[in-house]
Amino acid sequence: MERRGEENSMSVECDGGCESCSKKSECNDPRRERWEEKQRLKANMSEIKHKIAVISGKGGVGKSTVTVNLAIAFAMHGYANRVGILDADIHGPSIPKMLGLRGQKLQALAGMIFPVIGPLGIKVVSMDFLLPSDESPVIWRGPLKMRAIQQFLSDIKWGGLDFLFIDLPPGTGDEPLSVIQLIPDMDGVVIVTMPSEVSQIVVKKAVAFARQLGAPVIGIIENMSGFICPKCGAEVNIFKSGGGRKIAEDLAAPFLGSIPIDPEICSYSDEGKPFIVGHQDSPTSKVFIDIVKKIEQYIEKRNHMEIPVKEDVCE
Ligand SMILES: Nc1ncnc2c1ncn2[C@@H]1O[C@H](COP(=O)(O)OP(=O)(O)O)[C@@H](O)[C@H]1O
Ligand SMILES: [Mg+2]
Repeated sequence: MERRGEENSMSVECDGGCESCSKKSECNDPRRERWEEKQRLKANMSEIKHKIAVISGKGGVGKSTVTVNLAIAFAMHGYANRVGILDADIHGPSIPKMLGLRGQKLQALAGMIFPVIGPLGIKVVSMDFLLPSDESPVIWRGPLKMRAIQQFLSDIKWGGLDFLFIDLPPGTGDEPLSVIQLIPDMDGVVIVTMPSEVSQIVVKKAVAFARQLGAPVIGIIENMSGFICPKCGAEVNIFKSGGGRKIAEDLAAPFLGSIPIDPEICSYSDEGKPFIVGHQDSPTSKVFIDIVKKIEQYIEKRNHMEIPVKEDVCE
């Protein structure tokens, strides 16, 4: 940020170009602070090879469940100690509960803040690790939430990772917007939906949102797709079935797989144990493994594509 006027008339003629400014070490302009934060974010994120956000149009469709089990599936298939989860649901963080990490805190050491380490070495950062008690709500407007997410990305020492999954709250509000803007080189978004028509209407918004912001849609997962009665073995389509595949076809987006309703998924989550750890050979675990392979193939294909550099919109 070159100051061309009086030595002390800070940044009157500043052009905001901190990069090449010879005076930046003595500059107090708030723009320098933002520039430095942006540099930290870039450096921190450059250590993480792939960043994938999990979004949906509606709440309660299983985003967090999918994020946790997908992260575990990656860790179990060659990426142990190389996977992270950012729980970017500021108002309703649920990743720590699902991974049995409630009550833990982010660790500060030698001026750095470190994620909490979960099963299979998964590094987790969540608002939940910063709240004083179970009942504490976060009552924040958009800019504060964006700031928190920015700091989670720039100031936490994630270290080298192969995959960072970002679990987002429902809809197309502040948090998904912040994440997509703050990580311009994100690999893409995975969209979770339920098969019902009500969910399909809102999933279209999620796909349009990602596309408008230039985030590639890796694919759509249909969760809560059918239920096999444990007593008689009959399949009951409680929320219908096939809606996820249909919407993927309608929107020309890849379909990644269908996860059935399984009471064990719910009870395992409540006990803080990821379902697929205890049910490695179940059909549902196989669906997750299949999704891991599809995401790997997507990344492999993307590695061979010319990807235009997206405009940096960290402000
Ligand atoms: N396939 C499934 N079968 C049974 N329960 C599920 C399934 N997917 C999610 N759940 C349960 O549904 C509830 C909501 O899931 P969650 O992942 O928190 O949704 P979201 O993050 O989209 O709000 C949780 O209690 C979770 O355990
Ligand atoms: Mg959630």
